[in-house]
Amino acid sequence: MERVKTGIPGVDEILNGGFVKGNVIIISGSPGIGKSNFAMQYLYNGAAMYGEAGVYVTVEDVPEKIREYARDFGWDFEKYEKEGKLSIVAQPIYSDEEKEKRKEKERALKGDAKRETLVETIKRTNAKRVVLDSVTLFKYLFKDDMSRRINLLNFINMVKEMGCTTLMVAEQHESTPNIMYTDEHFLADGLVVLFWLQHKDRQERCFRVIKMRGSSVNPSIRPMDILETGIVVYPTQVPLSLE
Ligand SMILES: Nc1ncnc2c1ncn2[C@@H]1O[C@H](COP(=O)(O)OP(=O)(O)OP(=O)(O)O)[C@@H](O)[C@H]1O
Ligand SMILES: [Mg+2]
Repeated sequence: MERVKTGIPGVDEILNGGFVKGNVIIISGSPGIGKSNFAMQYLYNGAAMYGEAGVYVTVEDVPEKIREYARDFGWDFEKYEKEGKLSIVAQPIYSDEEKEKRKEKERALKGDAKRETLVETIKRTNAKRVVLDSVTLFKYLFKDDMSRRINLLNFINMVKEMGCTTLMVAEQHESTPNIMYTDEHFLADGLVVLFWLQHKDRQERCFRVIKMRGSSVNPSIRPMDILETGIVVYPTQVPLSLE
């Protein structure tokens, strides 16, 4: 199996060389655990270390915020955006009423003024990495289970057909190594969970791979840190609370 390196210290060791090329992987975790940082770092390293273009689809944050968070870690998104190696696509959630209004506006636009679709961005930049932050988007866009599942499947099939290795960020309401499984966990090829474990009076960030189609899975829970330079996972260390 061909691998796509994350370049995130410790992660590729745990993943036997990286994510399986062409897989769609869910990064699930509780608030503030580091899901978005992980996703940004995956894309940034793709561009900066491996020369692979990437697209970040952001639902909750505006692109400027993403650039700002990245800058804090020393990752110059703008430089790579100018080179066409990184793209940030804002996909806000609209109410049905707003959606209609926007559709009308879009229809009135012509040629270059039209908003590029994600497929077009992927094609134009020859992107190999995609991040969807977050997959909760589908919950708000589609009211019933069936249309949500169909549309999520369409999205998954689309990024796969385009040859991208995709991370979908998912929110987890409890912070435990064992999560409540939902539809998207079954549809995705891979599932990585980020969570807190308590050790005495402090909480420790942890990393765990639950599934990875096309690969053996390292079942160990490993400690994780967010340093000034970004996320680091310690591939051979045992979390303090589990020693
Ligand atoms: N420059 C930095 N240096 C060290 N830690 C940082 C830095 N910037 C952010 N953090 C840490 O990262 C955490 C947020 O990470 P991130 O935004 O990736 O979380 P998330 O899982 O996406 O959260 P949410 O579910 O709220 O979107 C902050 O709570 C903070 O502890
Ligand atoms: Mg986030």
